[in-house]
Amino acid sequence: MAAPPPPYIISLILLLPFLPVAFSGGTIGLNYGRIADNLPDPTQVIQLLISNGVTRIKLFDTDPTVLNALSNSNISVIVALPNQNLPSAAAENQTYTDTWVQSNILPYIPTTTIDAIAVGNEVFTDPNNITSFLVPAMKNIHASLIKHNLTIKVSSPVALCALDNSYPSSAGSFKPELIEPVIKPMLSFLRDTESYIMVNVYPYFAYQANTDTIPLDYALFRNNAGVTDPNTGMVYKSLLDAQLDAVNSAISALQFDDVKMVVTETGWPSVGDLNESGAGADNAAQYNGNLVRRVLAGGGTPLRPNDPLNVYLFALFNEDQKPGPTSERNYGLFYPDGQKVYDVPLSVTALNYY
Ligand SMILES: *[C@@H]1O[C@H](CO)[C@@H](O)[C@H](O)[C@H]1NC(C)=O
Ligand SMILES: *[C@@H]1O[C@H](CO)[C@@H](O)[C@H](O)[C@H]1NC(C)=O
Ligand SMILES: *[C@@H]1O[C@H](CO)[C@@H](O)[C@H](O)[C@H]1NC(C)=O
Ligand SMILES: *[C@@H]1O[C@H](CO)[C@@H](O)[C@H](O)[C@H]1NC(C)=O
Ligand SMILES: *[C@@H]1O[C@H](CO)[C@@H](O)[C@H](O)[C@H]1NC(C)=O
Repeated sequence: MAAPPPPYIISLILLLPFLPVAFSGGTIGLNYGRIADNLPDPTQVIQLLISNGVTRIKLFDTDPTVLNALSNSNISVIVALPNQNLPSAAAENQTYTDTWVQSNILPYIPTTTIDAIAVGNEVFTDPNNITSFLVPAMKNIHASLIKHNLTIKVSSPVALCALDNSYPSSAGSFKPELIEPVIKPMLSFLRDTESYIMVNVYPYFAYQANTDTIPLDYALFRNNAGVTDPNTGMVYKSLLDAQLDAVNSAISALQFDDVKMVVTETGWPSVGDLNESGAGADNAAQYNGNLVRRVLAGGGTPLRPNDPLNVYLFALFNEDQKPGPTSERNYGLFYPDGQKVYDVPLSVTALNYY
Protein backbone atom coordinates (compact mmCIF):
# COMPACT_ATOMS: atom_id res chain seq x y z
CA MET A 1 0.00 0.00 0.00
CA ALA A 2 1.38 3.35 -0.95
CA ALA A 3 1.90 5.78 1.88
CA PRO A 4 -0.47 8.74 1.78
CA PRO A 5 1.14 11.83 0.34
CA PRO A 6 2.49 14.26 2.89
CA PRO A 7 -0.01 16.96 3.88
CA TYR A 8 1.81 19.80 2.11
CA ILE A 9 1.35 18.01 -1.21
CA ILE A 10 -2.36 17.64 -0.56
CA SER A 11 -2.74 21.34 0.20
CA LEU A 12 -0.74 22.21 -2.91
CA ILE A 13 -3.03 20.05 -5.04
CA LEU A 14 -6.10 21.64 -3.46
CA LEU A 15 -4.74 25.10 -4.05
CA LEU A 16 -3.71 24.57 -7.63
CA PRO A 17 -7.01 25.43 -9.30
CA PHE A 18 -7.11 28.69 -7.36
CA LEU A 19 -3.60 29.87 -8.09
CA PRO A 20 -3.63 32.72 -10.56
CA VAL A 21 -2.66 31.42 -13.98
CA ALA A 22 0.41 33.26 -15.17
CA PHE A 23 -0.92 35.16 -18.16
CA SER A 24 1.86 35.26 -20.68
CA GLY A 25 0.20 37.75 -23.01
CA GLY A 26 1.80 41.07 -23.74
CA THR A 27 0.18 44.47 -23.30
CA ILE A 28 -1.35 47.03 -25.65
CA GLY A 29 -1.33 50.77 -25.13
CA LEU A 30 -2.02 53.81 -27.29
CA ASN A 31 -0.01 56.92 -28.17
CA TYR A 32 -2.10 59.97 -27.33
CA GLY A 33 -0.59 62.50 -29.72
CA ARG A 34 -2.20 65.91 -29.78
CA ILE A 35 -0.84 67.72 -32.85
CA ALA A 36 -4.35 68.67 -33.91
CA ASP A 37 -6.77 71.57 -33.52
CA ASN A 38 -9.95 69.51 -33.28
CA LEU A 39 -9.48 66.95 -30.50
CA PRO A 40 -11.97 66.46 -27.67
CA ASP A 41 -10.94 67.67 -24.23
CA PRO A 42 -8.89 65.22 -22.16
CA THR A 43 -11.70 64.21 -19.79
CA GLN A 44 -13.78 63.06 -22.77
CA VAL A 45 -10.72 61.30 -24.20
CA ILE A 46 -10.22 59.37 -20.96
CA GLN A 47 -13.87 58.23 -21.14
CA LEU A 48 -13.29 57.08 -24.73
CA LEU A 49 -10.22 55.11 -23.59
CA ILE A 50 -12.05 53.52 -20.66
CA SER A 51 -15.00 52.51 -22.81
CA ASN A 52 -12.59 50.79 -25.19
CA GLY A 53 -10.75 48.94 -22.43
CA VAL A 54 -7.50 50.86 -22.90
CA THR A 55 -5.31 50.75 -19.76
CA ARG A 56 -2.03 52.24 -21.01
CA ILE A 57 -1.23 55.38 -22.92
CA LYS A 58 1.83 57.33 -23.92
CA LEU A 59 2.10 61.10 -24.19
CA PHE A 60 4.66 63.29 -25.93
CA ASP A 61 4.81 65.76 -23.05
CA THR A 62 3.50 66.24 -19.51
CA ASP A 63 0.36 68.23 -20.31
CA PRO A 64 -1.31 69.11 -16.99
CA THR A 65 -4.90 68.80 -18.27
CA VAL A 66 -4.20 65.28 -19.53
CA LEU A 67 -2.32 64.20 -16.40
CA ASN A 68 -5.08 65.57 -14.17
CA ALA A 69 -7.76 63.86 -16.28
CA LEU A 70 -5.92 60.56 -15.82
CA SER A 71 -6.11 60.88 -12.05
CA ASN A 72 -7.75 57.76 -10.50
CA SER A 73 -8.55 56.47 -13.98
CA ASN A 74 -6.71 53.13 -13.75
CA ILE A 75 -4.93 54.12 -16.97
CA SER A 76 -1.17 54.27 -16.62
CA VAL A 77 0.94 56.63 -18.68
CA ILE A 78 4.38 57.10 -20.17
CA VAL A 79 5.15 60.83 -20.19
CA ALA A 80 7.89 62.62 -22.11
CA LEU A 81 10.49 65.33 -21.81
CA PRO A 82 10.50 66.94 -25.28
CA ASN A 83 13.68 67.01 -27.39
CA GLN A 84 14.11 70.78 -27.14
CA ASN A 85 14.59 70.47 -23.35
CA LEU A 86 17.43 67.97 -23.58
CA PRO A 87 20.30 70.51 -23.56
CA SER A 88 18.99 72.07 -20.32
CA ALA A 89 18.24 68.67 -18.82
CA ALA A 90 21.81 67.53 -19.49
CA ALA A 91 23.40 70.31 -17.38
CA GLU A 92 25.66 68.89 -14.71
CA ASN A 93 24.07 70.76 -11.79
CA GLN A 94 20.66 69.06 -12.28
CA THR A 95 18.85 72.33 -11.58
CA TYR A 96 16.66 71.91 -14.61
CA THR A 97 15.67 68.29 -14.03
CA ASP A 98 15.04 68.87 -10.32
CA THR A 99 12.59 71.63 -11.22
CA TRP A 100 11.11 69.63 -14.07
CA VAL A 101 10.38 66.63 -11.85
CA GLN A 102 8.96 68.90 -9.16
CA SER A 103 6.53 70.63 -11.50
CA ASN A 104 5.79 67.94 -14.12
CA ILE A 105 5.80 64.67 -12.18
CA LEU A 106 5.37 65.19 -8.43
CA PRO A 107 2.02 67.02 -8.54
CA TYR A 108 0.31 64.03 -10.19
CA ILE A 109 1.72 61.30 -7.94
CA PRO A 110 0.20 58.99 -6.76
CA THR A 111 -3.29 59.45 -8.20
CA THR A 112 -1.95 59.31 -11.75
CA THR A 113 0.14 56.22 -12.46
CA ILE A 114 3.27 57.28 -14.34
CA ASP A 115 5.04 54.16 -15.62
CA ALA A 116 7.98 55.78 -17.32
CA ILE A 117 9.51 58.99 -18.62
CA ALA A 118 10.61 59.07 -22.25
CA VAL A 119 13.57 61.45 -22.39
CA GLY A 120 13.30 62.92 -25.87
CA ASN A 121 11.86 61.11 -28.87
CA GLU A 122 13.88 59.59 -31.73
CA VAL A 123 16.73 61.81 -30.57
CA PHE A 124 19.27 60.62 -33.17
CA THR A 125 17.06 61.94 -35.98
CA ASP A 126 16.71 65.43 -34.48
CA PRO A 127 18.06 68.00 -36.99
CA ASN A 128 19.67 69.95 -34.13
CA ASN A 129 22.00 67.03 -33.30
CA ILE A 130 21.17 66.74 -29.60
CA THR A 131 22.56 63.21 -29.35
CA SER A 132 25.33 64.14 -26.92
CA PHE A 133 22.76 65.46 -24.40
CA LEU A 134 20.70 62.28 -24.25
CA VAL A 135 22.42 60.06 -21.69
CA PRO A 136 23.38 62.92 -19.35
CA ALA A 137 19.73 64.08 -19.45
CA MET A 138 18.47 60.55 -18.72
CA LYS A 139 20.86 60.28 -15.76
CA ASN A 140 19.81 63.66 -14.42
CA ILE A 141 16.11 62.85 -14.65
CA HIS A 142 16.76 59.58 -12.84
CA ALA A 143 18.76 61.36 -10.13
CA SER A 144 16.04 63.98 -9.69
CA LEU A 145 13.43 61.23 -9.32
CA ILE A 146 15.54 59.43 -6.72
CA LYS A 147 15.62 62.60 -4.60
CA HIS A 148 11.86 62.03 -4.18
CA ASN A 149 12.15 58.26 -3.81
CA LEU A 150 10.35 57.80 -7.13
CA THR A 151 11.11 54.58 -9.01
CA ILE A 152 9.63 55.63 -12.36
CA LYS A 153 11.55 54.10 -15.28
CA VAL A 154 13.60 56.42 -17.48
CA SER A 155 14.22 55.58 -21.14
CA SER A 156 14.14 57.12 -24.64
CA PRO A 157 12.36 55.95 -27.82
CA VAL A 158 14.84 54.92 -30.50
CA ALA A 159 13.82 54.88 -34.17
CA LEU A 160 14.78 51.93 -36.34
CA CYS A 161 17.09 54.15 -38.37
CA ALA A 162 19.56 53.86 -35.46
CA LEU A 163 20.36 50.53 -37.08
CA ASP A 164 23.12 50.21 -39.64
CA ASN A 165 21.81 46.84 -40.78
CA SER A 166 18.46 45.16 -40.13
CA TYR A 167 18.46 42.24 -42.57
CA PRO A 168 18.73 39.41 -41.88
CA SER A 169 17.62 39.90 -38.29
CA SER A 170 20.62 38.04 -36.88
CA ALA A 171 22.93 40.58 -38.52
CA GLY A 172 21.20 43.56 -36.89
CA SER A 173 23.69 46.21 -35.77
CA PHE A 174 23.67 49.81 -34.59
CA LYS A 175 25.23 52.56 -36.66
CA PRO A 176 28.93 52.51 -35.78
CA GLU A 177 29.07 56.25 -35.08
CA LEU A 178 26.34 55.91 -32.41
CA ILE A 179 27.68 52.87 -30.57
CA GLU A 180 30.42 54.35 -28.35
CA PRO A 181 29.05 57.89 -27.88
CA VAL A 182 25.48 56.99 -26.97
CA ILE A 183 24.20 53.43 -27.48
CA LYS A 184 26.54 51.71 -25.03
CA PRO A 185 26.19 54.38 -22.32
CA MET A 186 22.39 54.29 -22.76
CA LEU A 187 22.20 50.50 -22.52
CA SER A 188 24.45 50.60 -19.41
CA PHE A 189 22.15 53.16 -17.85
CA LEU A 190 19.05 51.08 -18.69
CA ARG A 191 20.68 47.98 -17.19
CA ASP A 192 21.85 49.78 -14.02
CA THR A 193 18.40 51.28 -13.39
CA GLU A 194 16.44 48.13 -14.39
CA SER A 195 14.74 50.10 -17.13
CA TYR A 196 14.15 49.00 -20.73
CA ILE A 197 14.89 50.19 -24.23
CA MET A 198 12.02 51.91 -26.08
CA VAL A 199 11.82 51.31 -29.84
CA ASN A 200 9.64 52.86 -32.54
CA VAL A 201 9.18 50.35 -35.35
CA TYR A 202 7.09 50.78 -38.50
CA PRO A 203 6.89 47.81 -40.90
CA TYR A 204 4.82 50.17 -43.07
CA PHE A 205 7.92 52.24 -43.95
CA ALA A 206 9.92 49.15 -44.92
CA TYR A 207 7.03 47.79 -46.96
CA GLN A 208 6.36 51.11 -48.69
CA ALA A 209 10.00 51.44 -49.73
CA ASN A 210 10.27 47.80 -50.91
CA THR A 211 6.89 46.74 -52.30
CA ASP A 212 8.67 44.65 -54.92
CA THR A 213 10.48 42.45 -52.39
CA ILE A 214 8.37 42.50 -49.19
CA PRO A 215 5.06 40.60 -49.41
CA LEU A 216 2.13 42.60 -48.00
CA ASP A 217 0.91 39.50 -46.12
CA TYR A 218 4.26 39.39 -44.28
CA ALA A 219 3.94 43.04 -43.28
CA LEU A 220 0.29 42.62 -42.14
CA PHE A 221 0.69 39.43 -40.02
CA ARG A 222 -1.41 37.46 -42.52
CA ASN A 223 -0.74 33.88 -43.55
CA ASN A 224 2.52 33.78 -45.50
CA ALA A 225 5.45 31.51 -46.25
CA GLY A 226 7.66 33.38 -43.81
CA VAL A 227 11.23 34.53 -44.17
CA THR A 228 14.06 32.30 -42.98
CA ASP A 229 17.09 33.90 -41.39
CA PRO A 230 20.01 32.18 -43.14
CA ASN A 231 22.29 32.49 -40.10
CA THR A 232 19.96 31.08 -37.45
CA GLY A 233 17.46 29.08 -39.50
CA MET A 234 14.70 30.89 -37.62
CA VAL A 235 11.53 31.48 -39.59
CA TYR A 236 9.92 34.91 -39.35
CA LYS A 237 6.18 35.06 -40.02
CA SER A 238 5.97 38.83 -39.65
CA LEU A 239 8.08 41.81 -40.59
CA LEU A 240 7.58 43.36 -37.15
CA ASP A 241 9.09 40.30 -35.46
CA ALA A 242 12.00 40.39 -37.90
CA GLN A 243 12.59 44.10 -37.26
CA LEU A 244 12.44 43.66 -33.48
CA ASP A 245 14.95 40.83 -33.68
CA ALA A 246 17.25 43.04 -35.73
CA VAL A 247 17.24 45.40 -32.73
CA ASN A 248 17.66 42.45 -30.35
CA SER A 249 20.68 41.27 -32.37
CA ALA A 250 22.18 44.75 -32.32
CA ILE A 251 21.75 44.83 -28.52
CA SER A 252 23.19 41.31 -28.14
CA ALA A 253 26.20 42.21 -30.24
CA LEU A 254 27.06 44.74 -27.52
CA GLN A 255 26.43 42.14 -24.74
CA PHE A 256 23.31 43.75 -23.31
CA ASP A 257 20.98 40.77 -23.82
CA ASP A 258 19.42 41.30 -20.39
CA VAL A 259 17.98 44.72 -21.33
CA LYS A 260 14.27 44.32 -22.14
CA MET A 261 12.40 46.13 -24.88
CA VAL A 262 9.07 47.94 -25.20
CA VAL A 263 7.66 48.98 -28.58
CA THR A 264 6.70 52.58 -27.91
CA GLU A 265 5.34 53.22 -31.42
CA THR A 266 4.04 51.19 -34.29
CA GLY A 267 1.14 51.70 -36.65
CA TRP A 268 -0.18 51.85 -40.19
CA PRO A 269 -1.84 54.81 -41.93
CA SER A 270 -5.44 54.50 -43.11
CA VAL A 271 -4.99 57.13 -45.85
CA GLY A 272 -1.94 58.14 -47.88
CA ASP A 273 -0.89 59.98 -51.01
CA LEU A 274 -1.03 58.11 -54.34
CA ASN A 275 2.66 57.22 -54.08
CA GLU A 276 2.33 55.89 -50.53
CA SER A 277 1.86 52.23 -51.37
CA GLY A 278 0.06 50.18 -48.78
CA ALA A 279 -1.61 53.08 -46.94
CA GLY A 280 -5.34 52.40 -46.60
CA ALA A 281 -8.06 51.59 -44.07
CA ASP A 282 -8.23 47.86 -44.83
CA ASN A 283 -4.48 47.41 -44.40
CA ALA A 284 -4.41 49.59 -41.29
CA ALA A 285 -7.23 47.56 -39.74
CA GLN A 286 -5.42 44.32 -40.58
CA TYR A 287 -2.06 45.51 -39.29
CA ASN A 288 -3.35 46.85 -36.00
CA GLY A 289 -5.97 44.13 -35.45
CA ASN A 290 -3.59 41.25 -36.20
CA LEU A 291 -0.88 42.92 -34.12
CA VAL A 292 -3.19 43.20 -31.10
CA ARG A 293 -4.16 39.54 -31.45
CA ARG A 294 -0.51 38.54 -31.78
CA VAL A 295 0.51 40.57 -28.71
CA LEU A 296 -2.35 39.44 -26.47
CA ALA A 297 -1.87 35.79 -27.47
CA GLY A 298 1.55 36.05 -25.84
CA GLY A 299 5.02 34.90 -26.73
CA GLY A 300 7.95 36.93 -27.91
CA THR A 301 10.08 37.10 -31.03
CA PRO A 302 12.10 34.11 -32.30
CA LEU A 303 15.26 35.45 -30.60
CA ARG A 304 13.49 36.32 -27.35
CA PRO A 305 10.60 33.83 -27.21
CA ASN A 306 9.94 34.28 -23.49
CA ASP A 307 9.57 38.06 -23.55
CA PRO A 308 5.92 38.92 -24.36
CA LEU A 309 5.57 42.00 -26.56
CA ASN A 310 4.49 45.23 -24.93
CA VAL A 311 3.33 47.62 -27.62
CA TYR A 312 1.97 51.16 -27.85
CA LEU A 313 0.02 51.68 -31.04
CA PHE A 314 0.42 54.91 -32.95
CA ALA A 315 -1.99 56.50 -32.60
CA LEU A 316 -5.17 57.24 -30.71
CA PHE A 317 -6.39 60.03 -33.05
CA ASN A 318 -5.81 61.27 -36.57
CA GLU A 319 -3.82 64.47 -36.04
CA ASP A 320 -4.68 67.12 -38.60
CA GLN A 321 -1.81 69.51 -37.87
CA LYS A 322 1.04 67.10 -38.53
CA PRO A 323 3.27 68.13 -41.42
CA GLY A 324 4.49 65.81 -44.18
CA PRO A 325 2.72 63.39 -46.52
CA THR A 326 -0.99 62.61 -46.10
CA SER A 327 -0.23 59.40 -44.19
CA GLU A 328 1.23 61.43 -41.30
CA ARG A 329 -2.21 62.81 -40.47
CA ASN A 330 -3.95 59.45 -40.75
CA TYR A 331 -2.42 57.02 -38.27
CA GLY A 332 -5.32 57.33 -35.81
CA LEU A 333 -7.64 54.56 -34.67
CA PHE A 334 -10.25 57.25 -33.94
CA TYR A 335 -11.49 60.40 -35.62
CA PRO A 336 -11.53 63.47 -33.38
CA ASP A 337 -15.29 62.99 -32.85
CA GLY A 338 -14.61 59.64 -31.19
CA GLN A 339 -15.85 57.50 -34.11
CA LYS A 340 -13.62 54.58 -35.05
CA VAL A 341 -11.65 54.90 -38.30
CA TYR A 342 -11.88 51.09 -38.41
CA ASP A 343 -12.64 48.37 -35.91
CA VAL A 344 -9.75 47.10 -33.82
CA PRO A 345 -9.99 45.20 -30.51
CA LEU A 346 -7.90 46.95 -27.86
CA SER A 347 -8.21 44.58 -24.89
CA VAL A 348 -8.58 40.90 -24.09
CA THR A 349 -12.29 41.50 -23.40
CA ALA A 350 -12.85 43.24 -26.72
CA LEU A 351 -10.91 40.49 -28.50
CA ASN A 352 -13.64 37.98 -27.63
CA TYR A 353 -16.10 39.93 -29.76
CA TYR A 354 -13.98 39.73 -32.89
C1 LIG B 1 -7.42 48.35 -13.72
O1 LIG B 1 -6.56 47.93 -14.77
C2 LIG B 1 -6.05 46.62 -14.62
C3 LIG B 1 -5.11 46.37 -15.77
O2 LIG B 1 -4.20 47.41 -15.91
C4 LIG B 1 -7.19 45.64 -14.59
O3 LIG B 1 -6.66 44.35 -14.35
C5 LIG B 1 -8.18 46.01 -13.49
O4 LIG B 1 -9.30 45.16 -13.54
C6 LIG B 1 -8.63 47.45 -13.65
N1 LIG B 1 -9.48 47.85 -12.53
C7 LIG B 1 -10.58 48.56 -12.71
C8 LIG B 1 -11.32 48.93 -11.46
O5 LIG B 1 -10.99 48.92 -13.80
C1 LIG C 1 23.28 75.06 -13.86
O1 LIG C 1 23.95 74.87 -15.10
C2 LIG C 1 23.42 75.65 -16.16
C3 LIG C 1 24.13 75.25 -17.44
O2 LIG C 1 25.49 75.10 -17.22
C4 LIG C 1 23.54 77.11 -15.85
O3 LIG C 1 22.99 77.90 -16.91
C5 LIG C 1 22.79 77.43 -14.55
O4 LIG C 1 22.97 78.76 -14.19
C6 LIG C 1 23.30 76.52 -13.43
N1 LIG C 1 22.44 76.71 -12.26
C7 LIG C 1 22.93 76.85 -11.04
C8 LIG C 1 21.92 77.03 -9.95
O5 LIG C 1 24.11 76.78 -10.82
C1 LIG D 1 26.59 65.40 -33.67
O1 LIG D 1 27.43 65.90 -32.66
C2 LIG D 1 28.47 65.03 -32.24
C3 LIG D 1 29.22 65.70 -31.11
O2 LIG D 1 28.38 65.99 -30.06
C4 LIG D 1 29.39 64.71 -33.40
O3 LIG D 1 30.37 63.79 -33.00
C5 LIG D 1 28.57 64.12 -34.53
O4 LIG D 1 29.39 63.95 -35.66
C6 LIG D 1 27.40 65.03 -34.90
N1 LIG D 1 26.57 64.33 -35.83
C7 LIG D 1 26.10 64.92 -36.94
C8 LIG D 1 25.24 64.07 -37.80
O5 LIG D 1 26.33 66.07 -37.22
C1 LIG E 1 13.05 58.65 0.96
O1 LIG E 1 13.15 57.45 1.69
C2 LIG E 1 14.02 57.54 2.79
C3 LIG E 1 14.19 56.16 3.40
O2 LIG E 1 12.94 55.49 3.42
C4 LIG E 1 13.48 58.57 3.78
O3 LIG E 1 14.37 58.70 4.85
C5 LIG E 1 13.35 59.92 3.05
O4 LIG E 1 12.75 60.87 3.91
C6 LIG E 1 12.52 59.78 1.80
N1 LIG E 1 12.58 61.03 1.06
C7 LIG E 1 11.50 61.61 0.51
C8 LIG E 1 11.74 62.88 -0.22
O5 LIG E 1 10.37 61.14 0.61
C1 LIG F 1 5.34 61.25 -53.04
O1 LIG F 1 5.17 62.39 -53.82
C2 LIG F 1 5.41 63.62 -53.12
C3 LIG F 1 5.00 64.76 -54.00
O2 LIG F 1 5.48 64.59 -55.29
C4 LIG F 1 6.88 63.67 -52.73
O3 LIG F 1 7.17 64.86 -52.04
C5 LIG F 1 7.18 62.49 -51.82
O4 LIG F 1 8.54 62.44 -51.51
C6 LIG F 1 6.76 61.17 -52.49
N1 LIG F 1 6.83 60.13 -51.50
C7 LIG F 1 7.33 58.94 -51.76
C8 LIG F 1 7.26 57.95 -50.63
O5 LIG F 1 7.83 58.63 -52.82
